[in-house]
Amino acid sequence: MQANFITRRNLLKSVSATATGLVLAPAGFGQTAAAEETPVRIGCIGVGGRGTGLLRILMAINGVEVPAVCDINPAAAARARKIVAQAGRKEPECYTKGEEDYKRLADRSDLDAAIIATPWEWHVPMSVYAMRARKYAGVEVPCAITLEECWELVKTSESTGVPCMMLENWSYRRDNLAVLNMIRRGLFGEIVHCHCAHSHDCLSWYFDKQGNPRWGGNHLLRRNADQYPTHGLGPVLSWMDINCGDRFDYAVSMASRSLGIKDYLERTYGKNHPAAKLPYKQGDIVTTMVKTVKGNTIVIAMDMQLPRPYDNRWQIQGTRGLYNEQRGAVYIEGTTPEHEEWEPFPPYQEKYEHALWKDAGSIVQQYGHGGPDFLVLREFVAAVRGKTQTPIDVYDSAAMSAIFALSEKSIAAGSMPVKCPDFTAGKWETTKPKFAVDG
Ligand SMILES: NC(=O)c1ccc[n+]([C@@H]2O[C@H](COP(=O)([O-])OP(=O)(O)OC[C@H]3O[C@@H](n4cnc5c(N)ncnc54)[C@H](O)[C@@H]3O)[C@@H](O)[C@H]2O)c1
Repeated sequence: MQANFITRRNLLKSVSATATGLVLAPAGFGQTAAAEETPVRIGCIGVGGRGTGLLRILMAINGVEVPAVCDINPAAAARARKIVAQAGRKEPECYTKGEEDYKRLADRSDLDAAIIATPWEWHVPMSVYAMRARKYAGVEVPCAITLEECWELVKTSESTGVPCMMLENWSYRRDNLAVLNMIRRGLFGEIVHCHCAHSHDCLSWYFDKQGNPRWGGNHLLRRNADQYPTHGLGPVLSWMDINCGDRFDYAVSMASRSLGIKDYLERTYGKNHPAAKLPYKQGDIVTTMVKTVKGNTIVIAMDMQLPRPYDNRWQIQGTRGLYNEQRGAVYIEGTTPEHEEWEPFPPYQEKYEHALWKDAGSIVQQYGHGGPDFLVLREFVAAVRGKTQTPIDVYDSAAMSAIFALSEKSIAAGSMPVKCPDFTAGKWETTKPKFAVDG
């Protein structure tokens, strides 16, 4: 059965039909058991490190079938086929005949969606092809790496009516969703400012075991930008009503000098390793400041090439208080006892637990990053099954990913402000908050 996205039913359910905008109903969550029995057929494109993890989760979601997998590496595809078979599902067909073989997968008539977990430069060609072949596109982070690519995703999703969701898992963290509930209940007052970061030593991901640049390392050679903005921004988008009441206006970025990559390669592989002598463009720490149209400010940091423990440094602040992720604490004016500087966050997390997590049960915590990876896929699958808009839509996906190219532009121009595109073409002004609306 070919997916039919713009049905009369969907048109009637639509909340924001416009001449060019998508006309699907907003996403819901908490699907009924009956709905969960409806099969959802997904083709997986790219089953390396991340794609394999996503595939394992798909096997744990009720009603998901994976009739096809694609990878240029036949061993990776064979591993994926085994994972599906071991989960008691029909063995998928493997597409391994080169870089364009994903097209044969997307052209299959028995798929509803494609999950794309390939190197970044393939995300847009693959998502666009999938949407044109009337398959929902669920694409890894960042979904696009240039502004032109961001627009291509938006325009294709609009013209085909097929949703495209960047699978930003950090939007689904338990603490982040509880904070979203607190914000929506007004605990922090009117929000004005936020900090976020992706502080994650990823050097062994950028380079292979011999110290040679992998595909990600090649981006470090060629570009100086916040190359990974979406993990930090994932929760911030809904915390700050971006694309539903506010939007990014302009950005200013600054990069530190580049020492970490060379230092890592020299201490790990020796001073004479050829990769240690390459001219990496990427600065060690990239800091971006974004001003929103409403006048709020966001600081985004990328810190992925220096040795350090993992950290996201989320802090969101309003007229009545703030949440600080590193401290695991909140301060709420009039509620936090006067003698305390900070209150512990865990009792608030419990009190404002999001329905997505109440629903989730303990099983989700066995999966990637303690649960968010399961939830992001479960919600994507629910949208595919219900033929609804995805919870993170193409506008949100493009807005988060665009920081990659915008930060690069600003850094190259000596930290000049650069205008952020309005991918929604004005719809942000009337769109109501739609991500993970709880109660
Ligand atoms: N959300 C998260 O927490 C998270 C974590 C890790 C990686 N990622 C993202 O996942 C994506 C993949 O990263 P990874 O670490 O799995 O990389 P990887 O190199 O381990 O896997 C990529 C796979 O894509 C395959 N591939 C390359 N070109 C292809 C093509 N043209 N057709 C089909 N297959 C192709 C490769 O053979 C490989 O198996 C990236 O976008 C990355 O940023 C996200």
